[in-house]
Amino acid sequence: MGRLTADEICGLDPYAFLAVLGKRVIHPGGRASTDRLLEWSAIERGARILDIGCGVGTTAIRIAREYDADVVAADISPLMRDRAQHNVTAAGLTNKVRVEAADITALPYPHASFDAVLGEALTMFVDRSKAAAELARVCKPGGRVLATEFCWRRPPTQRAREIFLGQVCPGMRFDTEAEWAGIYAGAGLTDVHTEVGPFAMMTTRGFLADEGTHALSVVARVMSRPAYMRKMAWLMPRMSAAVPYLGYVVVEAHKPATVLQEV
Ligand SMILES: C[S@@+](CC[C@H](N)C(=O)[O-])C[C@H]1O[C@@H](n2cnc3c(N)ncnc32)[C@H](O)[C@@H]1O
Repeated sequence: MGRLTADEICGLDPYAFLAVLGKRVIHPGGRASTDRLLEWSAIERGARILDIGCGVGTTAIRIAREYDADVVAADISPLMRDRAQHNVTAAGLTNKVRVEAADITALPYPHASFDAVLGEALTMFVDRSKAAAELARVCKPGGRVLATEFCWRRPPTQRAREIFLGQVCPGMRFDTEAEWAGIYAGAGLTDVHTEVGPFAMMTTRGFLADEGTHALSVVARVMSRPAYMRKMAWLMPRMSAAVPYLGYVVVEAHKPATVLQEV
């Protein structure tokens, strides 16, 4: 993907913008929430895994490394796929991670294709019941569905709600922890397990914990173009207004090992 124009940078959604800056972890609970999902995942060595809405491929790469798994890293956005492919190649994992185009609401995979399916921070952008049903459909019986979602940790002020859902992420929909659990149970999944945590990604502490020494190159990239600095100067005060109220929900659910046939 070539160099973006200043207008294109201005029009990026916050997540694509962070990807362009080279940020590697782009979901509300940061690495800590991925740690929790993987603790719950029961992924076995050599398993076949789907990471849908893979962003720049960070979790897909981690799963391939840590579990010697075969991972399909899929995303609807060509910009994200381009960066994911770059990162997979740089990690030397092109034989373990395949980057593909896919829409979570109509996954291009047969039923029961994967031992586990994972979606970090993307169902809020789409029809959530349809997304959960698709995750359940492509998961093998006995497999796990894993997700990270947004939620309000405490009731937001009108201003925080308007800034986040009206300006920063227009079109995004939130549910409570119980509502998210209901959405996954409604997709036919069982043993739905959830945990809530604070939105860490855009705090200084969370940024450093997620990116480590790589944080320096993200900051250097922001400073490298006035268009990046302008976009960051627009984004940060708005995020700061919403962060005290924002949180994440991690979800782990099981696809029943035997599915009763409809008669
Ligand atoms: C908040 S980012 C999360 C990226 C990555 N999962 C991570 O945690 O770093 C949301 C991602 O979902 C992707 N996305 C949004 N709608 C999608 C859809 N309908 N199907 C597949 N991917 C989608 C976006 O392109 C973006 O990469």
